[in-house]
Amino acid sequence: MLSGKRIILGVTGGIAAYKAVFLLREFQKAGAEVRVTMTPSATRFVGSETFASLSNHSVAIEIFPDEGESDTDWTRHINWGEWADLFVIAPCTGNTIAKIANGISDNMLTATVLAARCPIMICPTMDGEMYESPSVVKNLKTIQEFGYHILEPESGFLASGLDGKGRLPEIETILDTASEIIGFIEGPLQGKKVLVTAGPTREFIDPVRFISNPSSGKMGVAMAKAAQRLGAEVILVHGPVTTDLPEDMRCIPVISAHDMFEAVKIYADADYIIMAAAVSDFTPKETFEHKVKKGNATSSVSLKQTQDILQWLGEYKKADQVLIGFAMETQDLLSNAKKKLNSKKADWILANSLSTNDSGFGTDTNEVYVLGKETEHRIKGTKQEVAEQALNFILDSE
Ligand code: CTP
Repeated sequence: MLSGKRIILGVTGGIAAYKAVFLLREFQKAGAEVRVTMTPSATRFVGSETFASLSNHSVAIEIFPDEGESDTDWTRHINWGEWADLFVIAPCTGNTIAKIANGISDNMLTATVLAARCPIMICPTMDGEMYESPSVVKNLKTIQEFGYHILEPESGFLASGLDGKGRLPEIETILDTASEIIGFIEGPLQGKKVLVTAGPTREFIDPVRFISNPSSGKMGVAMAKAAQRLGAEVILVHGPVTTDLPEDMRCIPVISAHDMFEAVKIYADADYIIMAAAVSDFTPKETFEHKVKKGNATSSVSLKQTQDILQWLGEYKKADQVLIGFAMETQDLLSNAKKKLNSKKADWILANSLSTNDSGFGTDTNEVYVLGKETEHRIKGTKQEVAEQALNFILDSE
């Protein structure tokens, strides 16, 4: 359930803060991406560097970043709040509970609570009689009414030496509850199968030479991740990409356009098919079994056209299936893309231009026009942002 999900781990100033380090590791082992925000007093218990190096992201403590911090955006509480699928505050002190109950937002953690669009899970953790105090009881009731999820603390031996209710639950219990909460969030692609193709193909002339293109596979992988985040079961058929592949996804490696076509046919009953691959249009008529020696070489290679996979999918499209293609152009972007939309019988074409520096092959950013039969929508951002916004736009337009 947590695989591929984005979690903000909020750590407040209680002795159980050290356990949050293990919680972070377990979230990661479950496949989640985690960012950590700490209250200033939490840093008295565990150094922020511990969380920063384990999460591979700077830890946010104050709303206004300190000088020298790598994340210098002072609206990061908003960005983080929009980024996350789940916000887990563990341990959560009586002080932070009181702030949350009253909308106080005087540090990064409490400000992000206000900005968060995702479910919020709170693990109250206190010593002695604090958990039973009237103000904590009242504040927890208020927070529950807000719709936040409270995971009750466990009873047992506390840091003060007292026995009572207030211990942070076992990591496993926190993980189970987080998974349950995530499970309740039904993404719009829940129960849907999405086939995505990514990367280039290689058309071999002989064992050491091939025809290909500079596609990195980044845009296709971003589309696959976006579909998974929206709840879909994703199959990623990919050529030889130069970007990291998601570990928690069914990835099928192929080499040539022919291999890709064969793999795509197996999953051609998917509910959504996203052809983001830069499939070679041509392949050599003849492939030599052995390396062609300089002396024997002719100066030309005869080519034949490969199967246009998207065109084939358009021809055999099943009812209610959504077919999304890409168009990469160097001139007349929109008119060429429109032609592809019609000739390939796709429902949508994501058109991008190769003529700008920050879009196209290998870049981390992209500028894309989402073209439907009657729609045209421009999106610009990182490839991941573009992928998510484009898919959401398509889903909203259906
Ligand atoms: N495509 C495909 N099979 C091919 C070639 C392309 O499925 N043999 C798909 C791509 O994955 C993309 C769309 O068709 O979704 C458009 O690809 P693009 O390379 O932009 O266009 P082409 O169809 O190759 O046309 P042209 O070369 O004329 O631009």
